[in-house]
Amino acid sequence: MSTGATSVNAWGLDGETSPPTGRLIVATEIRFSEIISALSVALDITQGQLKGHCMRNALIGMRLAQSLDLPTADRSALFYALLLKDLGCSSNAAKMAYLFRADDHEVKRSVRLINWTKPGECIKHCWSHCASGGSVFEKLLQMAVMMRKGAKAARQISEIRCDRGAEIARMLHLPEATATAIHDIDEHWNGGGNPLGLQGEEISLLGRICCLSQTVEVFFSAYGRQAALDVAVERRGQWFDPKLVDALTGLRDDASFWKSLETDDLVSELSRWEPEDAVLLADEACLDRVAEAFAKVVDAKSPWTYQHSTRVAEIAVGVAQQFGCNPELERDVRRAALLHDIGKLGVSNMILDKDGKPTEEEFAEIRKHPDYSLQILQQVEAFKVLADVASAHHERLDGRGYHRRLDGTQLPWVARVLAVSDICEAMSAKRPYRDAMPWWKIQEIMSHDGGAGVDSDCLHALERWQDHHQLESRVEAQLAEVDRLIAEL
Ligand SMILES: [Fe+2]
Ligand SMILES: [Fe+2]
Repeated sequence: MSTGATSVNAWGLDGETSPPTGRLIVATEIRFSEIISALSVALDITQGQLKGHCMRNALIGMRLAQSLDLPTADRSALFYALLLKDLGCSSNAAKMAYLFRADDHEVKRSVRLINWTKPGECIKHCWSHCASGGSVFEKLLQMAVMMRKGAKAARQISEIRCDRGAEIARMLHLPEATATAIHDIDEHWNGGGNPLGLQGEEISLLGRICCLSQTVEVFFSAYGRQAALDVAVERRGQWFDPKLVDALTGLRDDASFWKSLETDDLVSELSRWEPEDAVLLADEACLDRVAEAFAKVVDAKSPWTYQHSTRVAEIAVGVAQQFGCNPELERDVRRAALLHDIGKLGVSNMILDKDGKPTEEEFAEIRKHPDYSLQILQQVEAFKVLADVASAHHERLDGRGYHRRLDGTQLPWVARVLAVSDICEAMSAKRPYRDAMPWWKIQEIMSHDGGAGVDSDCLHALERWQDHHQLESRVEAQLAEVDRLIAEL
């Protein structure tokens, strides 16, 4: 497979003060599945799951589909539903953290290992995870809040995840069967699931497969093959379609299947399971949609970062245009801007949404996000260059930025464009501990840093762009999101 991507050496992370001639990505025969498989790691991180959870989930589901001899169209729709089942999960992260007063990653990871439909297990889980680090009194208070919200809150949290996940799948132009399967993933065979309480064959077959696969994967990764089979059998006819559980137990002795779940190269392993006669390739428009979709996933993580990535993209394209860069490079700048903060999915909402200024320790956690962005994006072979520049958006010319402490001799032009755009957008937004800043103040602060921290040419380009495009405030939208977070629960 040829990706056609410019090599890292062509960019070399050398200090460039003007637009390069190369591309960040070239969409020549890139398999859509390769991109989605690699980016599914971002969804694993959001869910507090081990890296590769979505890909292993897809291997399990596709093996079941093979046993059931599903037609090609169904297997193709299922393949993407299994990989992207957690697309909506960032949308309820803030709510989980708010409800539990605890790290959303930890709550999300642990809840997958219990049978939350059993009141005893549910109460025990809530008690051990609520008001994390708090006193017994604080935990009791939080338990009282949670008991009052009860099943209604669980349903709402699931509804947000399912609706949002299906919506983003449609944005990616995936088949309706994929969106439906993602929407049905939390429904249980006995009608006790969420969000609609569908029962039996009211739940789409692909949704039932996703539901079984995700639980089997979590138990397999935590405790091994026997535990994975046991949980399926134990919940047969309750959570899971009996026919599917029987198909899974029929694989008990398929050693090569279970072994495949442990491979280090899940992307390659999984690419063999996409129906050969329905392989999707990613063209330029498709890459744009992927970047837009994952930007929505990132921006949904916290009400305070709502719309951030899409606005950084708008500003960055405006800045790039002032340099007269070509439309192809402009397109790549937009994609890099949309994906620059994908690593924020790895930061707890307890920190992102904290009602006050983060401590030094918490800032240290926040400063890890460009490294997470790099780790996620470089999984996509064709995104290696884009990963390097997008993850350099907090670097400074004087080398005092993060996370690699690059300096002016190493910072590529795209990273310089992203840096000024990101700072401008972040300062124009409200934070729990400070107000949004007007343009004149942003300009004053940034101009003091011109040439030292941020690139002066990029700053002047931003000023020229701002002269003609007044950046609208997003404070109202942010506060509406905060209100929605509280009101929905
Ligand atoms: Fe960032
Ligand atoms: Fe950012």
